[in-house]
Amino acid sequence: MFAPGRVNLIGDHTDYMGGLVFPMAIDRGVSITGTVGGSLVEVRSGRESTSARLELPIDDPASVSPPWARHLAGVAAEMDATVGFTGELSSDLPVAGLSSSAAVQVAVALMLGHPGPPLAVAELCQAAEHRSIGVPCGIMDQLTVAAGVAGHALLIDCHSLEVAPVPVPEDVEVVIVHSGEHRELANSAYAARRAECESAQQVIGPLRLAPLDAVAGIDDAILRARARHVVSENQRVRDFAEALAEGDYSEAGHQMVESHRSLGQDFEVSTPTLDTLVAELAAIPGVYGARLTGAGFGGAVVALCRPGALDRGFLAIASAGARVL
Ligand code: GLA
Repeated sequence: MFAPGRVNLIGDHTDYMGGLVFPMAIDRGVSITGTVGGSLVEVRSGRESTSARLELPIDDPASVSPPWARHLAGVAAEMDATVGFTGELSSDLPVAGLSSSAAVQVAVALMLGHPGPPLAVAELCQAAEHRSIGVPCGIMDQLTVAAGVAGHALLIDCHSLEVAPVPVPEDVEVVIVHSGEHRELANSAYAARRAECESAQQVIGPLRLAPLDAVAGIDDAILRARARHVVSENQRVRDFAEALAEGDYSEAGHQMVESHRSLGQDFEVSTPTLDTLVAELAAIPGVYGARLTGAGFGGAVVALCRPGALDRGFLAIASAGARVL
């Protein structure tokens, strides 16, 4: 079983508010090989010193040890699995921040025989993440991993859950560069941002429907800034998708840089290291734009560029979702 990682081109911290995102599944990810059967989920991982050995059924996935096995346990618990598998997990995702945990979850769901369709797999894995890790994530990562389409990014409306595959033009490259910065305190800060967005929503109604003018009516300066990010980011996703389809890559790149600025200034999920990296990359000839990708607080930066313009990071190819290899 193979489940890809993902990179988000634009639209961060919008999914859990029912907004728009524009990610793509990439050509690297997580593989699980093994044999189905028995009442255990037993998995060895090349990157972990301790194996997972979970007895089914699982009641409380959040208390499972070693901690990395909670991703497996959450999925098994959500599926009420009683038949497990014995196998080996490997990953060729080079850096953090490309949804390796969503890839593990989706791969485990398929190993445990989830019949699909991709949206149902993604919703189950999202619930598993909430239950086992305690991070109130949106649907973007799991849905991209499950529903990726080769050669396409996915324009996802996280309210209707409609997934529209959009071709990635052949004359641009998507390059991922790691900031070298480990994500610290990301989980609690993520939950705090989501709670702030929900508070803002109580003042002006659903942020996905709110016009930018309405945001000015929020008294609290922090809530106002968080809402301004979400509302403006939804518009940037639309503008980016349109620019990409028209071949206006400078405009697409401009939207990425604006997205990064908004994530830094209004949403406060960037770091000085990420800001410096984005500025450095965006200044290179042939780079149309760059931004942090995913939750922020460290992790990876994504750049849109002319083929061959960047000699650092790695090229990400838009790929199909989870599948049997
Ligand atoms: C993480 C979450 C996603 C999404 C991004 C930010 O990757 O898992 O649901 O909220 O952060 O866009």
